[in-house]
Amino acid sequence: ADASDAADAADAADGDVIKIGFAQVGHESDWRTASTNSAQSIFSAENGYDLQFVDCDQDSAVQLEAVRGFIEQDVDYIIIDPIVSTGWDTVLTECEEAGIPVIVIDRTIDDSDKYISWVGSNFKNEGLAAGEWLKAYTDAKGISDVNVLVIEGTTGASAQIGRTDGFKEIADANGWNILDSQTGDFTQAGGQEVMESYIKSYEGQFNVVVCQNDNEAFGAMDAMKAAGISYGVDGDVILISFDACTAGLEYVMSGDINADFECNPLAAPFVEDVIQQLESGSTPDKEVYMVEHWYVNEDILSSITVNGEEQELTVVTQEIVD
Ligand code: AHR
Repeated sequence: ADASDAADAADAADGDVIKIGFAQVGHESDWRTASTNSAQSIFSAENGYDLQFVDCDQDSAVQLEAVRGFIEQDVDYIIIDPIVSTGWDTVLTECEEAGIPVIVIDRTIDDSDKYISWVGSNFKNEGLAAGEWLKAYTDAKGISDVNVLVIEGTTGASAQIGRTDGFKEIADANGWNILDSQTGDFTQAGGQEVMESYIKSYEGQFNVVVCQNDNEAFGAMDAMKAAGISYGVDGDVILISFDACTAGLEYVMSGDINADFECNPLAAPFVEDVIQQLESGSTPDKEVYMVEHWYVNEDILSSITVNGEEQELTVVTQEIVD
């Protein structure tokens, strides 16, 4: 797939309306809702788009079927947020043969490069940042015994793989004890269920919980609260999360979550830019990384070094939440 496919697609468009198929992961988290809302407002009829939206409910088979449905409908562009990172080459070849350019957002596709552009986040960097923050924080607080429970995202999603690998790299380098690491499927119910079972197995043995998204952290908080375990800046357990959605930031501000590593859900404006470049015959970048921030409650560290680069920490205030 290249810019000439896009030009053909543009020629095939009905009048000026650009027809887009979007195979969204599902509705598992606040982050996902923000991503969907962003796409629906950018690719609106008012803005000259006809958006065919499919919520794939975290089911890879449904997602492949959705993409094939878009090919049948002969849409002009296909947007995919891939639930898992593999199993894509055959259907992307079908898109290419149909001359429909594919734009991948958020999670990556790791077994095919038959797409025009990818717009999203560096998940490994997020995991590394969480690890480097925990190292600096435990050093500052004089905590030398670090015993961690991880609640992972959906198995096989690049967000789960990158965050797991990045955090583990720092954990291994510092000799931390990762007691367990299980999936909560990026949902609040999953986070709560995994945390309840962790409490049965490891009560009294852990002092850090890493949740790979905010909704899992909300579930883990409910489970710890019910078991009488204190967490956050005044508690016995350091709680780390990813996403930094509005509710997540509120919990950082209240001190329930110690640190939250942002994953930006607002890819749609960047995707629109890619589409407009293709419409005008130019070739967009293959990879577009979005800017992200690391949010904390306490003003004891101003930055961390991630991959040799100094990265700022932002203390959450009401202004940031708003
Ligand atoms: O792919 C991005 C991840 O998926 C977000 O961290 C999570 O909230 C969502 O479900």
